[in-house]
Formats: sequence, structure tokens, C-alpha cells
Amino acid sequence: MATKLINLTYLFLAALLFGAASASIGNAQKTMATQTFAEDTHSYSNPQAVKVKNVDLDWNVSFDKKILQGTATLTVERAANAADAPLILDTRDLKIDKIETSENGASYKTATFKLGATDKILGAPLTIQLPRDAKFVRIYYATSPTASGLQWLAPQQTAGKKQPFMFSQAQAIHARSFIPLQDSPQVRVTYSARVRTPKNLLAVMSAEGNSQTAARNGDYNFKMTRAIPPYLIAVAVGDLQFQSLGKRTGVYTETSMIKASAFELADTEKMVEATEKLFGEYRWGRYDLLVLPPSFPFGGMENPMLTFATPTILAGDKSLVSLVAHELAHSWSGNLVTNATWRDFWLNEGFTTYLERRIIEAVYGTPRREMEATLGRRSLEQEMLGLEDRDEILHVDLKGRDPDEGFTGVPYEKGALFLRHLEETVGREKFDKFVRGYFDAHAFQSITTETFVDYLNKNLLAQNPKPTRADVEEWIEKSGLPKNAPQPKSDAFTKVETQANSWLKNDITASGIQAKGWTTQEWLHFLTKLPTNIGADRLAELDTVFNLTKIGNSEIAFQWLMMSIKNNYSTADARLEEFLTTIGRRKFVRPLYEELVKTPEGVKRANEIYTKARSGYHPITQVSVDAILKRKSQS
Ligand code: BES
Ligand code: ZN
Repeated sequence: MATKLINLTYLFLAALLFGAASASIGNAQKTMATQTFAEDTHSYSNPQAVKVKNVDLDWNVSFDKKILQGTATLTVERAANAADAPLILDTRDLKIDKIETSENGASYKTATFKLGATDKILGAPLTIQLPRDAKFVRIYYATSPTASGLQWLAPQQTAGKKQPFMFSQAQAIHARSFIPLQDSPQVRVTYSARVRTPKNLLAVMSAEGNSQTAARNGDYNFKMTRAIPPYLIAVAVGDLQFQSLGKRTGVYTETSMIKASAFELADTEKMVEATEKLFGEYRWGRYDLLVLPPSFPFGGMENPMLTFATPTILAGDKSLVSLVAHELAHSWSGNLVTNATWRDFWLNEGFTTYLERRIIEAVYGTPRREMEATLGRRSLEQEMLGLEDRDEILHVDLKGRDPDEGFTGVPYEKGALFLRHLEETVGREKFDKFVRGYFDAHAFQSITTETFVDYLNKNLLAQNPKPTRADVEEWIEKSGLPKNAPQPKSDAFTKVETQANSWLKNDITASGIQAKGWTTQEWLHFLTKLPTNIGADRLAELDTVFNLTKIGNSEIAFQWLMMSIKNNYSTADARLEEFLTTIGRRKFVRPLYEELVKTPEGVKRANEIYTKARSGYHPITQVSVDAILKRKSQS
């Protein structure tokens, strides 16, 4: 590996300069960054030469201009063998006004810089000439109103309708659209921020400093003292309220959603306790959630100390809180131990999905875990029918691709099945010990798949006859699901299938289906077990008895609308339009448009709906839907 070479060269030089006195070499080694950097095809930055250690932000949040304006002051560390290297940062659509450098953090002098050509996926490299002894780099800049990592909402797009709202979403490579930095997950940074907003609004960040009692004076300060990957830097500004959920847990959201949110998320503290028992101490202090307006493009985002969440989890019956278990689990798998590059994304999401199920088991019992695991495995099998072989590989090659478009359910569900397979093979006791050890050994580090495999070989495979290295290799490097993939089993689901079959065979009518007391998971299983082309009449029968077109639960509504489109069930047309014009969660929005554009009439409807909906969608969702509709109009 290149870094090893660098290390050797440096030692050789040090030996020449200081004589071979071992003490000198020892000292020199200490100041030398020992981190090895993997090739990250999604960053222009050069951390092996000059590495950013801390980011200090000073932002003015302008809702009028839809921009963040201010400074980012980076603390940098130069590798000893890179005396003349410039500092290379990632940017996207940033307006750079001026750059200064400093040796002492007190006096600054102007620096020369060059903003390179813009790549559609990666943005533009910012190359800064760095004096040899510079320790600080201050960049005066502003974001673009269309920054890919920010969404600016007008008052009408919020629940309260009175105040504007702004939030960030940096994963995977959008931090660079609101901060010039080395936007690779292996370049961990601490950060601090001063955020100035209009009075009456509250700013929150993925850091210490969030406060329910802060004076709403438009001046807020934050500090993240643990080194995190850039994709976890997050900010939101809005008319937010806070409610406590437990001794270190709470929820921020707009006033009109605070009650429903506190009810739905009431088990959060219990989940933190359960996870600590399983996988070791929670190392981030507080765990709060921010429930966002419905345009939030994801279900959840594990921003440290402050998970961002979609309001579509507010089902009214706590049935969708596996999302909280998932984002919380990232506090171990992802935020503590991070993928070094986006190739290694499965280390984040596979471990997290595995942990999520273990938390669900601990808090809600094994039957619930098995229901969710069964749904997970089936959605994976469904999705893989439409995937290219190369995208079924955990250690996926994303070179040249936008990670936003390249990510699938494979890292999540195949990753979780792999870990469950390891658990089942060596037994839970040994596996849990291994997982704890893995988190401890790599805490606050970013690692590659190779590093994981190495650790697995030494700490699990070496002590056990099975699984074999070949087995592990098949899971990580090959497409498809290995034959030994775990098969989750749910008795409750077996009963649901019996009901579905009786109804399909006309042994019973829709009103004879024993659905009383079905959980959301059982409903989802029922609906996804029905034949794809079941026909509009059959859907009408179900709708008359169970009112599915009117259902508020977002997951069930989504399934129902997918089936309605496939079967031309026009009674659900108005609901589909309402759903697509009020919710911007990409996991729902994208498949619905994809299903619509399969017929000529559907293309027309999709375009009509999208004309109304687009401006309310987040840039990330817009990119995905643009691609679907353009693809169609071109063909
Ligand atoms: N970290 C992800 C969200 C993400 C992934 C954002 C990749 C950008 C790029 C988050 O933890 C996640 O997986 N969210 C899921 C929910 C979860 C319960 C599967 C989502 O948003 O649907
Ligand atoms: Zn996740």
C-alpha cells in the first residue's frame, strides 16, 4: 500500500537527518500521521499530504437569498514528506470569495487558490497554495441557492406555515455543497460552529449545543469534540420545539408535530439502554431526534447526537420505530466505526440493519424481529430481480457513479443476512463478543472492507472451523445470495398467508379475512404476498372492507398505491396525487414514479403530478425523479 511506502521513505530520511538514534526516529514517528488512506473515487482531496483536522464554521443563514454565507476555518496537518503540497478540498457550487492562511491562528495572509473544472457527480476541486508552516486556512464563501445538500422551505411547505425552514443532508457526498472540506469519510474532523439566523428561529446541529431553553436570539453555538466523517455534519433551522423523552433523549420538531412525535418516539430511551447492553457504551452523550417536514428525502439520517427523521414514521401506533432503532444503531456501526469509502458502505448499513433487528428483538421480542427480517429479505429478493450482477456485491464498485443513485438495498439486507449467518454459525455468545471487540478496536476510525476481513479472520475465523474464508469471500465479493443465507421465519406471517390464500381461492370473502389486530408488518406481508396482477376488482373488494385508500400509515399506503398503479385501480388516483405532492421521501416517491411511467397514460399522469410536486421535493429526490421522467421522454 502506498502509505507504507511513504512511511518507509520518511523513516529513511529521518535516519539520515537525525542519525540513527532510535529516540529521534521514535519522536519523528509520533508527529507523522500514521493513518493509511484508501483510494476514494468520490473525493478530490489529498489527506495523505495535508489533512484537515478541525472545521470551524461561522454562518449567516439567509432565508431571503437561500444561502449560507460566512467562513470555514480549517485546521490542517501536513505530512512530513509533503512539504510543498497544496491543500486540495472538495466543493460543489460554492462561491469562494477569499482564502487566507495562518501559522498561529491570529494573523492571516491572503492565499492563492484555484477552483478546478466541475464534474457533474464530484463537484470541483479547490486547490489552495499552502505555506509550509500554515496551520489554519480560512475560506470566505457562500453556498448556492440550489446547493445539493441543503433544502430551503418556504413557510407554506412547513407544518406551521408561518416560518421558513432549512435543513442539510450531507451523506453521501453533499457536505461539499455547503462546506469546502475533504469530503471523504476517512478524513475525520472535529467541528465547531456559530450559526446566525433570523430571530425566533432555532438552529440545531449534530453536535453539543442544542438547547430547548436557548434564548431565540438568532445566535447559536455548537461543538463536536469527537472526530467524525464530514457526511455527519448537519444543521437545521426552523420554528422548533423540544420535548424530553428520557434522561438523555428528546425530540425537536415543529410545534404542531411535537405531541405526536413524543408519543411515537416514547421508547427511544429504552432502545439506547438495550443497545448499550448488547454492544457497549453509547459514546456520544445525548441522543435526540429531529422530526423534519415531509420533504426530507430519507427515512432517517444518523447525524451524531441528533438523528434526522421523516415525519412519515408518525403512524400513531409506534409501528414504524425500527427506523429509530436503525439510526440509533449507527451510533456504533457508522458513526463510531465508519466506512472508509463508499465502496465499504455495507459495513455501515449491513451492520446497522443487523443491529437494528437485535434492538427490535430486545425491546419488542423475537416475533417482531422475525417479521421485519422476513420483510427485509423479501424486499431484497424482489429488488435483486432488477439489479445488475455487479450491484449485488457487498463490496460494490461505485467508481464513476453517483453514490446517491448507486446505493441499493443490498448493503442493508444482504449485509444483515451475512452477519446473521456469522451469528448462526458460531453462536450468539461468541458473535456478540466479536462485534463488541470490533467496535472497540475501531472506535472513531474509518475502515475498509479489507480491514474488516482481516479483523474477522484473526478474531473469529481463526478460532472456529466454520465459517470458512471461502464462505466469507462469497458473501462479500460475489453477487446473489449464498445458499446458506439465513431464512427468517414468522409464525404470524404464516397465518397471514393462510388468510390471503383463502381469500384468493374465494373460500372466504374480504370481510371474512381475520385481520383484526394485524400489525403494520402483518399488513405489509399480506399486501406483498398478493399476486402482482391481482386486478382492480380484487383491490376494490379489499378497499371496501379495510379502507386502504384512506389509510394514514405511510408504509401501508405506499404498498397500496404501488398495487393500485399496477392494477389500474383508479379509485386510488386522488390519494396517489396527494401522497406524491405532500411526501418527498425518496424511498416512496421513486418507485411510484417508476411504476407510473410503465404505461403511456401513466407517463402523462406522472408528468402532471410532478409539475405540481417538483418544487416541494429535496434536490436529491428531484435528481432521481428527473432521471425517471427524462429517461422516458427520451425513449
Ligand atoms: N444513512 C442512511 C441514509 C442515507 C444513506 C443517506 C445513503 C444518504 C445516502 C440511513 O441510516 C438509512 O439507512 N435510512 C433508511 C431507513 C432505515 C430504517 C433503512 C431510509 O432513509 O430509508
Ligand atoms: Zn442506515
